[in-house]
Amino acid sequence: MAGGFAAALVLLASALLGFREGRAEQELRFKPAPRQRPVRLFTESELARYGGQQEDQPIYIAVKGVVFDVTSGKEFYAKGAPYNALAGKDSTRGIAKMSLDPVDLTHDTVGLTEEELQSLEETFQNVYKAKYPIVGYTAQRILNEDGSPNPNFKPEDQPHFTIKDEF
Ligand code: HEM
Repeated sequence: MAGGFAAALVLLASALLGFREGRAEQELRFKPAPRQRPVRLFTESELARYGGQQEDQPIYIAVKGVVFDVTSGKEFYAKGAPYNALAGKDSTRGIAKMSLDPVDLTHDTVGLTEEELQSLEETFQNVYKAKYPIVGYTAQRILNEDGSPNPNFKPEDQPHFTIKDEF
């Protein structure tokens, strides 16, 4: 009788253990992949909608293919403000050269000097990344030239902002 009881206990214990192991295995199997924040890709014409022309719209600028919401810098970028020409587009070259010449308001960095590239990096880090939240990236940044996804794309780290407007 006592032997039967002990056997029943062992059976119960092993059933419980098996159940727990099964759960652990299941948890492992169904563990979701680490969540990658979705990023918003801006085409040129989409970015152009945020050039500060309409007062009730946010203002965006891309630098090095990273799209920043510069609405809080209205005094620089709104319609009629000194740097409005930089808004609504990727103005990397203009920022590197400190130029508002329309030919420089492009993502193209070909032929920039070491000093200009260094100045670009400083303004990118110390002004844009420090002051303004990132809302997305341009196609040049996310895609290869043939339009296929660039596997080396990595969103910029900007821990002191919560990323807005993503999908
Ligand atoms: C007469 C020439 C210029 C003067 C006197 C001037 C002056 C200034 C001043 C006082 C600031 C504010 C700095 C601060 O907030 O601490 C500023 C910011 C800035 N300037 Fe100029 N600037 C000139 C030309 C330009 C040009 C040609 C560009 C072309 C790209 C440019 C791009 C910028 C940018 C990107 C910022 C940062 C704006 C921000 O904080 O979002 N500046 N400038």
